[in-house]
Amino acid sequence: MKKELEGFIEPGSEEEKLIKKIDFSRLPRHIAIIMDGNGRWAKERNLPRIRGHEEGIKSVKETVETCARLGIKYLTLYAFSKENWKRPKTEVNALWKLLENYLRNEDKILVENNLSLKMIGQLEGLPNSVQRELKRVIDLTKNNNGMYIILALNYGGRTEIVDAVRKLFDEAKKGFDINNLDESSFSKFLYTSEFPDPDLVIRTSGEMRISNFLLWQIAYSEIWITPVLWPDFRKRDLLEAILDYQKRERRFGGLSPSDYS
Ligand code: IPE
Ligand code: IPE
Ligand code: MG
Repeated sequence: MKKELEGFIEPGSEEEKLIKKIDFSRLPRHIAIIMDGNGRWAKERNLPRIRGHEEGIKSVKETVETCARLGIKYLTLYAFSKENWKRPKTEVNALWKLLENYLRNEDKILVENNLSLKMIGQLEGLPNSVQRELKRVIDLTKNNNGMYIILALNYGGRTEIVDAVRKLFDEAKKGFDINNLDESSFSKFLYTSEFPDPDLVIRTSGEMRISNFLLWQIAYSEIWITPVLWPDFRKRDLLEAILDYQKRERRFGGLSPSDYS
């Protein structure tokens, strides 16, 4: 077994069996996760929704650690959409508080493990104290290159495209020739300009929708949906997603090699 996984995966466990099936030369470079189902997890237990979000933090920690140990290069986590502001103020405030605490508590772990924190979304819309913490941890980890953890916060896919067009207009005023615009140059105006497109998108809690997540970037991503609610999501689920991804044939509109004669 890969040395990074020794001691992390119990010998003889279900996880070990799954790991043995993984082809480490064909890992998804970028995994993006729509972490959904915290509210339902709490409801099933007659607990307040906020307890579901708290429990979801454990899944975040386990997923980050598993991805880093496996050798995934980019992990995007959809943590708060632009539309999530519609929720009651108490829930919204609790979510930001949880993020702030996560950043305060995890900074050392990120540094020690060569992990770099990034964010996509509209930073200006976040509470000031969260903005401060985020900037601090992003700056603290900016030279790390083991794995990039990209938090989607106050993020909306359509807004991102509109924001990109605004930036494009600014550049056009400064002399950028619109005739040179193509998919690749347009991508440079998106929040994700530094990152490759996701290879694999995971959504928990069984919803079969995208909910305004990375609309441009997922054009050819493989999608894996599990009924597991986010607070119950564990390394075993992640490994299953990766294995399923490895069984797929990505054709990008072409044909399988065997179809060319
Ligand atoms: C995901 O869980 C967390 C966020 C969207 C912030 P939900 O809070 O959406 O949980 P459900 O979908 O209501 O179960
Ligand atoms: C998507 O989940 C957003 C995040 C996971 C942050 P939602 O719970 O907000 O999505 P809908 O409302 O079910 O589409
Ligand atoms: Mg939801």
